[in-house]
Amino acid sequence: MNYNGLTVAIFDKSLKDTIRVLGGKAVVLDTDTPVGWDSFINKLISNEICVLLLTEPKHIVSLFARATANGTYNQVLHSISQTVIGSASKNCTDLWKQHKLSVDFEPNTAGIKELLTEIARLACYLLDKKQTAVHRGADTTYWKHVDMRWGLDEEAVQKRHKSPFLAACRREPTDYTPIWLLRQAGRYQRAYRELKSDLDFLEMCKKSELTAEITLMAVERLGVDAAILFADILPLLQPLGFDLEYIRGHGPVIHNPIRSGADVDRLEEGVKESQHFVYETIRMVLPALPPNIPLIGFSGAPFTLAAYAIEGESTKEFRNLKIFMHSNPGAWHAFMEKLSRAIIGYLNEQISAGVQAIQLFDSWVGCLSPDDYKTFVLPHNRYIFSNLPPTIPKIHFGTGTSSLLELMKEAGGEVLGLDWRVDLSDAWHRLDYDVAVQGNLDPLILFTSPKEIRKQASTILGKAGDRPGHIFNLGHGILPGTPEENVTALVDIVHELGNK
Ligand code: CP3
Repeated sequence: MNYNGLTVAIFDKSLKDTIRVLGGKAVVLDTDTPVGWDSFINKLISNEICVLLLTEPKHIVSLFARATANGTYNQVLHSISQTVIGSASKNCTDLWKQHKLSVDFEPNTAGIKELLTEIARLACYLLDKKQTAVHRGADTTYWKHVDMRWGLDEEAVQKRHKSPFLAACRREPTDYTPIWLLRQAGRYQRAYRELKSDLDFLEMCKKSELTAEITLMAVERLGVDAAILFADILPLLQPLGFDLEYIRGHGPVIHNPIRSGADVDRLEEGVKESQHFVYETIRMVLPALPPNIPLIGFSGAPFTLAAYAIEGESTKEFRNLKIFMHSNPGAWHAFMEKLSRAIIGYLNEQISAGVQAIQLFDSWVGCLSPDDYKTFVLPHNRYIFSNLPPTIPKIHFGTGTSSLLELMKEAGGEVLGLDWRVDLSDAWHRLDYDVAVQGNLDPLILFTSPKEIRKQASTILGKAGDRPGHIFNLGHGILPGTPEENVTALVDIVHELGNK
């Protein structure tokens, strides 16, 4: 988790010690004279520099001015395309852009200290990635995450198969506890907000290159062990006939919710083709994803999709849904069957496009009693799981489900999601240890401090013990406003404490 001996070029000699403490070799450059610049340019051209931290805009300007004057501009560009570029600010990033170079890392808080420490976590990875790309003939000057090519040969396929995340799904022992995070890409992230800009969320979900970029950006910045497709559960409702809109500051709204059996009869079938943008995202993400990182596809479960389709928006009470379900059971089951068929088609298409695991999000099913779950949900979720390939790990996720866990296991899935309301060791015991478990940190803990996060992560890891088959995650998604540095701290802490 540091520079690991890489040479780091800086202009401020007061930072030398910080680089040393972080495991790097600092090369301090003399920017006062043309001779100083020429010597720096020589070092760059002879590939002596691994990480380039020109933290002041004027230095970037001077570098290219001097390279133009001494005729080395193209060589400098070529060398920099194999060097990790860290940018201390938006200004610096824009200056690199003027020379058709994209920066490899910009910290979330403008500041040199932040840049030095945040980039240290990723420097070795970023250098390997860039050099692999160059080796494979990719253009790494003005490039994005989706432009990376790792090469998907048999060795890479094997590496992904043996990855800690997939091994844990199969309850095989791993070198360390794998971690990924629900909503690992989202509004809490500066980079996400910049990529989203002022696009409408639904419009954004349909731009495959953008959703692929967001998927990959989150994995790289956090250093998690799995990628989750950036998409949403609700767009699948559109081709069924629902009028969906995401209203800023309010959330998703369905303008024509289900209120009667006749509304169910009117719904369309055969919807999987309409989600082509999701399959396209998967095909774009896979070649750019490091070989040891699997991609998780997903769908909402029929109950949770029905909750939006009947209520028309997020709710805590599920009043319309429960009244409809109990007073109109025939129509309810017909609706769940239609949703289930759509979900099966959708997930199987994602699997064909290449995802290595899937997650079924039944986020709101915890509002039901066990008997109602058994009658109104279990048969449908079981039907879905039994119509997916047995070889692919399937994560069955819910929240507030402590009274439903055994029934959820009965419905299917090799991995069960646990939120923070259950004790992990009790829950796993109740499940007879014959499924893997995923969870179970309260996302609110990420608002506290690295010290508290460490304490809580350690408790959870202790409850999982040395038993294979625990995937660390939150009990529910990362909330907007969560400090990003606490999220990366959690990933590093779990990797450190979960080392076996
Ligand atoms: O986890 C990831 O990083 C992948 C992306 C992902 C999103 N939504 C992105 C998103 C996933 C897996 C989902 C699933 C999802 N969507 C669920 C199940 C998981 C859960 O959280 O319970 C549900 C219930 C939804 C429905 C949904 N989508 C709601 C209620 C909202 C609004 C709430 C909010 O946070 O604004 C969305 C919008 C949404 N989905 C956003 C993101 C990043 C925020 C959109 C924005 O940028 O404004």
